[in-house]
Amino acid sequence: MIVFATSDKGGTGRSVTSCNMGFRLSASGNSVAYLDFDFGSPTTGALFEISGLERGIPPTKDRASGTEQGQGLHSYLLGRIDTPARVNVRDSTDRAELRKIGGRGGQLVLFPGDQGGGEFAYGKDPSIVDRCAGLLLSIDREFDVCLVDLSAGRSAAMEIVLKATATEALRGRTVRWLVFHRWTRQHIFAAHGLVHGANGLLDCGERAGHEPKTLLMNTRFIRTAVPDLARMYPDSSGAQTSWLERQDRILNKLAGDLKIGASSVLGSVLVEPVLQMREQLILDVDVDNEIANRATIEAIEKLSAQLLDERSWRPLNNPRWRPHN
Ligand SMILES: Nc1ncnc2c1ncn2[C@@H]1O[C@H](COP(=O)(O)OP(=O)(O)O)[C@@H](O)[C@H]1O
Ligand SMILES: [Mg+2]
Repeated sequence: MIVFATSDKGGTGRSVTSCNMGFRLSASGNSVAYLDFDFGSPTTGALFEISGLERGIPPTKDRASGTEQGQGLHSYLLGRIDTPARVNVRDSTDRAELRKIGGRGGQLVLFPGDQGGGEFAYGKDPSIVDRCAGLLLSIDREFDVCLVDLSAGRSAAMEIVLKATATEALRGRTVRWLVFHRWTRQHIFAAHGLVHGANGLLDCGERAGHEPKTLLMNTRFIRTAVPDLARMYPDSSGAQTSWLERQDRILNKLAGDLKIGASSVLGSVLVEPVLQMREQLILDVDVDNEIANRATIEAIEKLSAQLLDERSWRPLNNPRWRPHN
């Protein structure tokens, strides 16, 4: 299964939530590939706490010529190398507790972007699309789940993968789209626009050769850092609490009106104090040490299970087939 993680804005929780999902999926026995297609900011190495990869994979120096050659996804897509670097997360991470999980579970492999790679001008170079399609196909064959973290917004990354997944080679594969957004007015408008707006996923996808209906069927929203009102404001009688509850209802109505309501949501993650301070994997040890909330792990495990569950992906307009959240 190929899964694209996208968002209209930066700072939505797309990467942190996706990395945590990748980890949970691998911990439950799936082999997972994580591709850093956030070309402008290839920082997944930091999330997995891999020293030296915090800003993407550094280039290697050719001894003979003295020239530097990038090793990551940028260099691969641009045709400068034949295969992109891959890093086994459990072998390379600095987090001792994550290393320990080593023997159990499926493998978790990061395909990092190039350090200093940047967003590239994609232009109309069809060879980038072909290389992307080739890579996705081979990774999809090798791994149970291929998670691709895309650059925010209507990016070159989104256009490339839409074209790649429309090619003959990838047409029969299972491809899902996850759209991450925060629980605010602005983020709800933005997430709606990214899917349904001009040059959004459906629009751009149709131009690339996809059937918009099929794309929509394979798209679900994930709400991140949702305030847990009951926990944060246990005294429900105050003016502040009633204002917040009212806003929550208004947001629910807005999301429903904009076609990103409950039936199109894969799941939500509540505000997690650890993630407010630090981008990282939430491990069981963090909960055992009473640093992270148990609810965060439960939410991510539920999201991961929903992702793999066929029932989450049945058509939205049939009331008997509502995805269960
Ligand atoms: N559930 C959450 N609770 C609190 N903070 C979160 C949560 N999810 C993500 N964050 C934080 O939000 C910020 C943006 O997340 P990130 O994954 O980098 O967003 P994106 O990839 O969309 O740019 C990070 O500091 C991250 O730790
Ligand atoms: Mg990110």
